[in-house]
Amino acid sequence: MSAKDQIQKEKVPHHVAVIMDGNGRWASLMGKPRVFGHQNGVQSVREVVEGAGEIGVEYLTLYAFSTENWKRPAYEVNALMTLLVQTIRKEIKSLVENNVKLLSIGDVSKLPSKSRKALEEAQKATAENKGLTVILALNYSAKWDITRATAKVAELAQKGELEPKEINEDTFRSFLSTADFPDVELMIRTSGEKRISNFLLWELAYAELSFCAKYWPEFRKEDFFKAIVEFQNRERRFGLTGEQLKTLSG
Ligand code: IPE
Ligand code: IPE
Ligand code: MG
Repeated sequence: MSAKDQIQKEKVPHHVAVIMDGNGRWASLMGKPRVFGHQNGVQSVREVVEGAGEIGVEYLTLYAFSTENWKRPAYEVNALMTLLVQTIRKEIKSLVENNVKLLSIGDVSKLPSKSRKALEEAQKATAENKGLTVILALNYSAKWDITRATAKVAELAQKGELEPKEINEDTFRSFLSTADFPDVELMIRTSGEKRISNFLLWELAYAELSFCAKYWPEFRKEDFFKAIVEFQNRERRFGLTGEQLKTLSG
């Protein structure tokens, strides 16, 4: 039986986040430059977006470029930015046809103007779509986002527009760039690395983590579905005991 057939429709996670990792190592294995890996990673993005749409995931956040990735060699950073523009331009039509809404999180003001423009166009073209929402994390890091949210909270408090006693998890959350999305339920990282790398620290607080040994360019829809099945077979206790959960669901 394929992994897709094992998916329970009523237990599909609302929000899945993916750290698309291993492009460079995959390319090295092929005897090619790292950029070849990034280019081949685009097909994996298509597969995961399609797969998520097919099973009814509502939000899919893809870590495409971290604030730390600027430290890579300039030619690799440039190649990634060019690939971003090309990919977005090429995919707009299919995003629209498939009712996919494209959004981004991260400080996109620091991206080259061409990348920003392509992103803005795609966001505009897909703004009315009501199906899957794909959120590209670009020049994103969780520490950046949390620090930025804290500064906004402090500014409002200073102006007397927010009382310190009004600050709770919900109000704080509303200042994060992910305020409009539910917390992540499943986080997938490819390439065998088992770390968060400054991705969605707040939003992953209670996410299930799934690590796949495959490099990102090898990751296919079936691998995505396998991670969903794995997620559905976990017992999510949220601090309760297994016994309490049985009583609640019974
Ligand atoms: C992920 O693959 C893509 C980005 C971080 C942009 P990597 O480029 O990190 O590939 P590895 O991890 O070095 O193999
Ligand atoms: C995380 O991957 C960032 C993206 C996938 C965009 P990295 O390859 O940059 O992470 P580290 O440096 O191995 O932790
Ligand atoms: Mg990496």
